[in-house]
This record gives sequence, structure tokens and C-alpha cells, in this order.
Amino acid sequence: MEWTRENRYKRIEEVSQETLSSLKMKVESCQWRQTFHIQPPTGLLNDPNGFSYFNGEYHLFYQWFPLGPVHGLKYWYHTKSTDLVHWENVGVAIKPNKEFDSHGAYSGSGIVKDDKLYLMYTGNTRDENWVRKPYQAMAMLDKEGKITKYPTPVISEVPIGYTDHFRDPKVWELNGTYYAVIGAQRLDESGCVVLYESKDLLSWDFLGEVETDLKQFGYMWECPDYFELDDKGILLFSPQGLEPEGDRYHNIYQSGYLVGETLDIEQRRFTHKKFHELDRGFDFYAPQTMKAPDGRRLLVGWMGLPEIEYPTDENGWAHCLTIPRELQLKDDRLIQKPVAELTKSRKEKSGFAKTIHHDVQNELTGTHFELICELQDMSAASFGIEFRASAEEKTVLEYNKEENKIKLDRSLSGKSFGEEFGTSRSCLINGDVKKIQLFVDTSSVEIFINDGEEVFTSRIFPKPESDEIRFYVNGGHATVTVEKWDLI
Ligand code: FRU
Repeated sequence: MEWTRENRYKRIEEVSQETLSSLKMKVESCQWRQTFHIQPPTGLLNDPNGFSYFNGEYHLFYQWFPLGPVHGLKYWYHTKSTDLVHWENVGVAIKPNKEFDSHGAYSGSGIVKDDKLYLMYTGNTRDENWVRKPYQAMAMLDKEGKITKYPTPVISEVPIGYTDHFRDPKVWELNGTYYAVIGAQRLDESGCVVLYESKDLLSWDFLGEVETDLKQFGYMWECPDYFELDDKGILLFSPQGLEPEGDRYHNIYQSGYLVGETLDIEQRRFTHKKFHELDRGFDFYAPQTMKAPDGRRLLVGWMGLPEIEYPTDENGWAHCLTIPRELQLKDDRLIQKPVAELTKSRKEKSGFAKTIHHDVQNELTGTHFELICELQDMSAASFGIEFRASAEEKTVLEYNKEENKIKLDRSLSGKSFGEEFGTSRSCLINGDVKKIQLFVDTSSVEIFINDGEEVFTSRIFPKPESDEIRFYVNGGHATVTVEKWDLI
């Protein structure tokens, strides 16, 4: 199918059951379907939306173009879970069927009020000359699972001083008042976030721009999120248009955060330290957080990026979400840990404890697993793990102790893609690497270094038979304990 504008803006409701079933068959026959990640039944998934806890369940929606692996007319797709591990596909939640969201129900967030989950999102519209106009809209999910859209937009005009790149409201509540940050672009084409206030979630007042020290930092800030942890304020956003700088900013778009004092709402001032990327891997964007009933701050990201072709495209689908992670603050940095509930998925266990010299340890295999490697003692210059490996393929994570660096190399990970953005990602590590935790699914890996001080999230597309897991050292020895659990 040629992805003309007409085809990208075709509605799922217009397509015959036959066309949909044959697309579904094509998707299901894909060798790279994931097993424990949220992925679209067909078509393209992007940002997580409306992540929340309501009526005894976690709700997680995502941006969805049903008809193919391209960015077209976006719907919200609904999934829910009682345990953050098993997710049920509920179906379409928000359809782009009103004048104010005619060209896409774009990203947004969820908040519970009066026994309803309020979903605030951006209605994307285009006129006959394809000029964009964004609206902010509201839909309400009730306890019976019924979704009703508020009949008119709750914010209809972009305030003076900003372009039509104005989207992705994230709502929170403080002392009985609701606030929302929205991602924006100033008229000089620099990115920022703006702040709104509401008493009832339906009528919103523009308070102004959130002042930060990042005056010229990319051309658009997408998917902002503001929350507080340990009495600090955290502003998370996905800036577009940053140039690579050393090991940083090598993906097409970035996502990261500022830690600071709690947001001064009156002055709309956010006093903060420097910007940090949230993830060091190849495929991570537009994350969103929520507060769990037990107080944990949870994050899910889109395991993908726009404007890059992925190997699954030919099977009619693209992308998935990350596993849920718990955020904590440590020395003014966010650390991300796989949520504790994920240990429920652990199946058969294997592992070893030994000192590795020159010989490569090649005694474990797996294609869907969690692995924890603890480094007890290391004289070697470097230590590495090769996984999803065979004679021709391998994905390599290497810790270079001399340079204090961790590097993920996917140059031999299988079917290649996105190579114009490089085939390895590195970052400096603060102190020694003591623990490496991997979550490997059919076509992805999420790597947590030192309990989430650094995270590498990446898609990989190896052959199903590439299942070796190897450990090696260069120059010296390393004493390690390795535990591995099959996840299917
Ligand atoms: C980020 C984003 C959002 C927008 C959505 C559209 O990936 O561009 O800014 O709301 O995707 O699908």
C-alpha cells in the first residue's frame, strides 16, 4: 500500500472486515511480535497516554494508527491491568470523530474525579490547506467502561506568542486545583511548556509559560509531564531539535528531565539543575508517568521514535511500549527500576557464579528472559555480555572499567535499521558497575545499570535461533553471579 495522505487519513470504521482480518494475519505472522510488551494489534503505536489508576485497575492508552505502520489518523487504544504485568486489550477508547479532533486524537493524560477518569488530550485538526489547528479536548471514562466526549474543546485557542505546535496536556491536582502543562513552540521556533489552571477540569485558564533556564533548547517540547518526588519538582519532556553532544542526543529526538525546586506556580518559575536524558538506548520517546495507589511514581515510554522505518513495517505494524518502571530520586538524578510486580513473570531459573578469565562463558541460552548479572570483583579492563547471539548475530553490552563507560552495540543485532543514527550508544558511569539487569523480549532489550542509574532501551531484530548468552572479559578477570529467568 502506498501511504498517500488519503490512505493515512482513512478511518478504521471505513475499512472492510476482510481488509482488517488480512492485515491482522499479516501482523500475527511476524517473527518479531513481542510477548510481554504492550504492542498494537495492527498498525502503529506511539506515545503512552492517560496512564492512571481508576476503579481498581491500571489504565494505559496509546496513540494508535490502526491501518499500517505509519503516522496517520490517530486514535487512543485502551489497555488495562490489575498488576502492571498482564494487560488486557480493551479496544478503541477515543475516536477522532469530532470537528475539534478530526485529524487525530493526539496525546494526553488521565486524572480521576467524581468516579470518572478524565482524559485530556489534544484534538489535532487541519483545514483544506492542511494548516494545523490544535484544540485541547476532554473525554470521560465511567466505571461501566463507557467513554463520553465533552461536546466542546476545553481549550480552543493557542495563546498569543505560540505556534500551532501546541499539544499533549498532562494534568495533576494540587490542593483542590487542577493544573496542566502543555508542550509548546514559541513564535521564534523554540520549545517550552505552558501552564493552565482549572477548578473543574472543564474550564481552563492560561497562566503563562513555565520559565526555565533552557531558553533555546530545541524547536519543540513534546509530551511534558510535571510531578513531585521527595519534595523536589521534576519536569519531564521530549525536546526535538537537539544536536548530538559527545555521547548524548544521538537519537532523532530526545527525552529527558529537569530536577529542581517544586514548581512556583504563582511566578510560573521552575528553578532546576541541568537536563538529563532519561534513556541511553536507541528507541525511547515520549514517556508518561502516574502515581500508583501506593505512592510509587511509575513511568512507561514509547519504545520507538518517529521518522524511522522499522523491520516490522513490512508486516503491517510498528512499535511497542516499555515495561513499567518505578522512578526514584537519587542525588538529584532519576533512577528507573523495573516495577517489582514483574518478578511474577519469572519462570524457569538458571545461572552460575564464577570468575571469568580469558575464556568466553557460553553456558546460558534464551530469547525471552530477565537476567541479573552482579559484578563482585573485577580486575579486567572490560567485561561484556553478548545476547541474542549466534555465529552471525549478537547484541553486545560492554562495561569498560578503564574509561568508566557502558556501551550498547547493535551493529550485529540482526536485521538492521536506523543506521544513519549510528549502531552503538554509550554513556559514562558514575563509580563502578555492580549490577546489570536485562529484560529481553522477541525484538527488544531494556538494560538497567546499577538498579536503574542508567537505562538503555532498544529494539533489536535477531533471528529466533540467535539465543546464546555469552560473558567475556578483556585483560584480567571478573567474578560474577548471574541469574536468569525465562519469561515465557
Ligand atoms: C509525540 C507526538 C505528540 C503528539 C503525538 C501524535 O510522539 O508527536 O506530540 O501528540 O505524537 O501521535
